[in-house]
Amino acid sequence: MASKSRSHIAIYPGSFDPLTSGHLDLIERGSAMMDRLIVAVLRNDGKQPLFSVEERMEMVREVVPGFGNVEVDSFDGLLVDYAAQKQATAILRGIRAVSDYEYELQMALMNRRLKPEIETVFLMAGEAYSFISSRLVKEVFRLGGDIRGMVPPTVEARLQRRISGISARG
Ligand code: PNS
Repeated sequence: MASKSRSHIAIYPGSFDPLTSGHLDLIERGSAMMDRLIVAVLRNDGKQPLFSVEERMEMVREVVPGFGNVEVDSFDGLLVDYAAQKQATAILRGIRAVSDYEYELQMALMNRRLKPEIETVFLMAGEAYSFISSRLVKEVFRLGGDIRGMVPPTVEARLQRRISGISARG
């Protein structure tokens, strides 16, 4: 008789500055595969983010109530230490194109070297999202381009408020 399987907890880490429709697609896929999915926003990554960690966590919270097994958190320090602390068995990452592969492979192998018991699982977001990145969304939006569908509507509204606030001040 098969032994009772362990519950699968996965961490989906990232900067999420801001959350895009590609991220959301990945959360949906991850949520369907795992027992629990923890979306973990990186603190202190040295970049100058447009949104605070709290705002980024809020953005995720606004769109995940439909997925009962998704939680939102933040972390700093080593990702594998955070994952172990949460008793996660997997780290989830999205791959859009071949260009993502080298960086992702390097991180996955480094994380495996640090904690071999945690697997990195790569998922492909829907092809409609394969060109979307947080960086490009911010750039296009700042320059007046249409980003509808590239981010959830709640994130678009936040961008609107943030960018118009910045131009009014600056
Ligand atoms: O969305 P991003 O910015 O591509 O996510 C990168 C992230 C958060 C996954 C990566 O920077 C990370 O894991 N940082 C935590 C520090 C760490 O563990 N570094 C070693 C990674 S091999």
